[in-house]
Amino acid sequence: MELHDCLRLRRDTRHFLAEAVPEAALDKAFAAAHHAPSVGLSEPWRFVRVLSADKRAALYQNYCTAAENGDKSSLSPERRALLKSLKLEAIKDAPELIGVFCERPIAGSYTIGVQGTQDALVWSCVCAVQNFWLSLTAQGYSAGWVTILDLSLLSNLLGTSPAWEPLGLLCVGRPADHYGGIPMLEQVGWKTRSAKPVVVQV
Ligand SMILES: Cc1cc2nc3c(=O)[nH]c(=O)nc-3n(C[C@H](O)[C@H](O)[C@H](O)COP(=O)(O)O)c2cc1C
Repeated sequence: MELHDCLRLRRDTRHFLAEAVPEAALDKAFAAAHHAPSVGLSEPWRFVRVLSADKRAALYQNYCTAAENGDKSSLSPERRALLKSLKLEAIKDAPELIGVFCERPIAGSYTIGVQGTQDALVWSCVCAVQNFWLSLTAQGYSAGWVTILDLSLLSNLLGTSPAWEPLGLLCVGRPADHYGGIPMLEQVGWKTRSAKPVVVQV
């Protein structure tokens, strides 16, 4: 697939077919993630592949509680009803579930580029996730990024080190729906994508 087609066609996917993702496809996507740029060559991305059915069930419960608890006071009753109708994750049915984390460097170690902000480590992980997502798209698979979670509970459930900052959960598989080639939130009338990025000249 041509790069710009891949960029255009990548979707956040919440509807998956039941078929397994081949190991070779996953390996390729992880390798793509590892090609990402990272501040000071820190490579801070960490992935946790969830194989346990019990953990999957607990992660789904985590999502349900977080979705229920979110403050919706700014929404009209109509928007609240629309929001409630949306499928915003595929934790129960995605063939693969992958936790994403950012490992903070050991205290006292020096990383080029984080003197302005330590957030550059998380930005590096986001670059890796995007590479992972694009690689899946190019291979006919997709991902959905779920952040409607109690992230500290995500760490507890997956048993990760306190040095690993949780960035969410990726639901991965073969898409059952391409949402007409536009973001699902646009397709359902939640929000319309803007035509162009904001670029100013100074
Ligand atoms: C950091 C991040 C977190 C996201 N978290 C969620 C989420 O919890 N649930 C969800 O349905 N979509 C989530 N999304 C997906 C966005 O809603 C989606 O990217 C956006 O609507 C544009 O659609 P597209 O990715 O198909 O272009 C997240 C996306 C990003 C980048």
